[in-house]
Amino acid sequence: MIIAIDGPAAAGKGTLARRLAEHLGLRHLDTGLLYRATGLAVLEAGGDPADAQAAARAAQALDPARLADPALRSERVGAAASVVAAIPAVRAALLDFQRDFAHRPPGAVLDGRDIGTVVCPEADAKLFVTASLEARAERRWKEAVARGEPISFARILADMKERDARDANRSLAPLIPAADATVIDTSALDADSAFAAALAAIRD
Ligand code: DC
Repeated sequence: MIIAIDGPAAAGKGTLARRLAEHLGLRHLDTGLLYRATGLAVLEAGGDPADAQAAARAAQALDPARLADPALRSERVGAAASVVAAIPAVRAALLDFQRDFAHRPPGAVLDGRDIGTVVCPEADAKLFVTASLEARAERRWKEAVARGEPISFARILADMKERDARDANRSLAPLIPAADATVIDTSALDADSAFAAALAAIRD
């Protein structure tokens, strides 16, 4: 069984994906971490995330062991991830890893931006998890404050708006719901209600 969960940053899809995977006995992959790890590798090498060749090399050399690095969570790395994610050679280099992960028994929950549309269009269930820009920025800001990252709400809001536009407007694998996805808006839902709505959609 493969479950695809797509949506913009901080819509709650990560928490939901982890919970669904645990509940259904499936493996879980946060595919944003692949783009974050690629962005971080370029930054660490002193490169520019917009440099297509450097970013593609980093994606091809990606070590899955690095996906657990807490440094991937920072806003700086998130911004670099969004830039490398618009480079076709980066997306191509990360595709096989995602598909192999999805198809290994007993199946998996993958969350990202293009799982239902590009990575696993054959998924058994597709969810598009979204929330208002303000609700998502507030969640990210609280997480940054909890990590001790000195960043203002206004800055997070502006960065998120910019990242949404980049993710939605890129020509390859843009952020759009698959035609057969169930949309779940979590602006006014807590984690338990979002989980119940997702489970109901999957059982349908
Ligand atoms: O979900 P996230 O914030 O960790 O994702 C970081 C960036 O990676 C995001 O700006 C878009 C990109 N991404 C993507 O293009 N496709 C995916 N399947 C997952 C993430």
